[in-house]
Amino acid sequence: MADAMWLTEEAVDAAARGRVFCVDNAGAEDASSLRLRSEIVEFMKRPLVSDPSEADVVLRIGYADAGLDGGEAFRIRRAGTSAESIVIEGNTAVAALYGLYAWIRRTATGEGVPEGPEGYASVPQQAMRMIDHWDQVDGSVERGYAGESIFFGDLDSNDHTDFRDFPERPGRDPFRGDMARIESYARLLASVGINAIALNNVNVRGRAAELMVQPLLGRVARIARVFSGFGIKLFLAINFAAPKKLGGLDTADPLDPAVRAWWSGVIDGIYNAIPDFGGFLVKADAEGEPGPMQYGRDHKDGANMLAEPMARHGGAVIWRAFVYNCRQDWRDRTTDRAKAAFENFAPLDGQFADNVILQVKFGPMDFQVREPLTPLIGTLEHTNLMVEFQITAEYLGHQIDVNYVLPQWLRVANFDTAAPAELLGQAGDARVKAIVPRLSPNPSCSGYAGVANVGMDDNWTGNKLAQANLYGFGRMCWDGEATAESILDEWLALTFPQAGAAALEAIRGIMLTSNQTYENYCAPLGVGFMVVPGLHYGVSVNGYEYDRWGTYHFADRDGMGVDRTVATGSGYTAQYRPENAAMYEGLDTTPDELLLFFHHVPYGHVLHSGKTVIQHIYDTHFAGVEAVDGYIRAWDGVRGSIGEDDWANVAERLQRQRENAVAWRDQINTYFHRMSGVDDEHGRTIYA
Ligand code: GCU
Repeated sequence: MADAMWLTEEAVDAAARGRVFCVDNAGAEDASSLRLRSEIVEFMKRPLVSDPSEADVVLRIGYADAGLDGGEAFRIRRAGTSAESIVIEGNTAVAALYGLYAWIRRTATGEGVPEGPEGYASVPQQAMRMIDHWDQVDGSVERGYAGESIFFGDLDSNDHTDFRDFPERPGRDPFRGDMARIESYARLLASVGINAIALNNVNVRGRAAELMVQPLLGRVARIARVFSGFGIKLFLAINFAAPKKLGGLDTADPLDPAVRAWWSGVIDGIYNAIPDFGGFLVKADAEGEPGPMQYGRDHKDGANMLAEPMARHGGAVIWRAFVYNCRQDWRDRTTDRAKAAFENFAPLDGQFADNVILQVKFGPMDFQVREPLTPLIGTLEHTNLMVEFQITAEYLGHQIDVNYVLPQWLRVANFDTAAPAELLGQAGDARVKAIVPRLSPNPSCSGYAGVANVGMDDNWTGNKLAQANLYGFGRMCWDGEATAESILDEWLALTFPQAGAAALEAIRGIMLTSNQTYENYCAPLGVGFMVVPGLHYGVSVNGYEYDRWGTYHFADRDGMGVDRTVATGSGYTAQYRPENAAMYEGLDTTPDELLLFFHHVPYGHVLHSGKTVIQHIYDTHFAGVEAVDGYIRAWDGVRGSIGEDDWANVAERLQRQRENAVAWRDQINTYFHRMSGVDDEHGRTIYA
């Protein structure tokens, strides 16, 4: 049986023990109110009564006096003065469901319910809280590190073959059909507030293009129904060339009437099968995927063409901004990949339909451990936005290395875009988390998306501790005030209810420092991409240096880094609002950790920290390995406090992490020692 992740039996029991429930829902009967009842009776194994006065926990739905806005906010309060009896209320069954999971969480953490009529009320911060699966119909998961897809395929779940090596398996039913696992997954997602999911990879290969039409659509609908009860809308990634591939047309030109009619018919057919379908997710004109530009049209033409029939049904089109020239010549110093998203999409600001959402990766490159914020956020003023994060650890250690990524994501969410005051309204808040809904013309079409990190591995995520990133992604979308620490403490309390304080402190210590540790032994100071090409795990200093992907470090005997200034470099800094542009343009005002992203400097350049760049490289790389050694010792102390399987799983991964960290340390230190000729001040071993 699959691991329960954070909905452990102990945590659920603690909230339900001895209690009698009542669902008081003003007569509404939708998929979610049925789900709410079955969550109580079947999942929590508690009795339901019809009379609120006989229940300890009353879920009140849809009463005007709930005083909560929207269909997702909930309140938990004590009934009268009794600490034992509680009322969970919201306008919809989904809201009550969120309240129920919050009650489980707050019981586990000991926070409980504050006294008084206000109790604990909660409103989601981001409207769309989405998980994007990069699952493929052959069962593989692009950039998946936890076994096969939970939706597709039926290969051995422990097969970690690289996704490109899977053969096509034509004619096979691509659905795994493990509905119990899908239900568990939907519950886990709903318990952290996720309300949208894309089922398939943005690179729509093979039969994946057929998911939106019968007969595969019928199987998709079956999955959609499971998610629907939990308040989660299903999206499909589509192939822009589908009118040719599936429709027999000789073009996919978005302005061609036959193409438009074909898509309109497909969309009608989807809503026939899935009445609450979310919409499409589209990667177009990117990394070889087809798109409108092949026909001399632009992104707006493509997105709006799909948005029109989608709007008739209340659906959305999520259009990805991950568009850049991936056939660059390293000899060409005028093209800078970091500039691409802004160059492609800033001119289209205000031209997208009301139900089109631009999904933008949080940084200008590609989910590196250190990147600045993409300049599109805070500068686009008339385009619905979703920020894309990557939960699966493509560049962050493949869920082999421990990497609790919330500190990094929350830095993004809390970054001040310096958007001008006149755009900010009363709140005056230009941070990413506030500006995304604020600057989206249709705020219900805005939010965060995270690329999924789960698979068929028994513990879902390969490394047990990587579950915290999925948990944390949902919590970060919902609760704008949450911190990396508060989220981790919740996850620990729910996941390891039997662990003692010392063990929890040890795990906490490992996880809270893990993202910084990973950064320490990887590419330094924001330069990024010194990874093994294709695989993206492990060190390869020059793996991408002379390649077509536009990701370079430009190290020579004198110095390193990418000059992106207006004065002497690519001019990328100009894409930011003036305050941030000035900060990054200046060598002295650029934060140390992003120095090499913005500037090319000599190895002897002195950082704000007082160290030279070269000494910083040595120090962080030695520190990275030392930290991993510390994790291994700390983890030994955890043994016996958590389940032996979980302990052994992480222990094994920490050994692999150590090998990885040592390889990074030695190759990076040696490479830059050879380049610079500068010795380590502390005389440590560098393989010169
Ligand atoms: C990265 C990743 C690809 C993925 C792409 C995307 O480049 O390596 O596997 O397809 O991002 O986000 O579209």
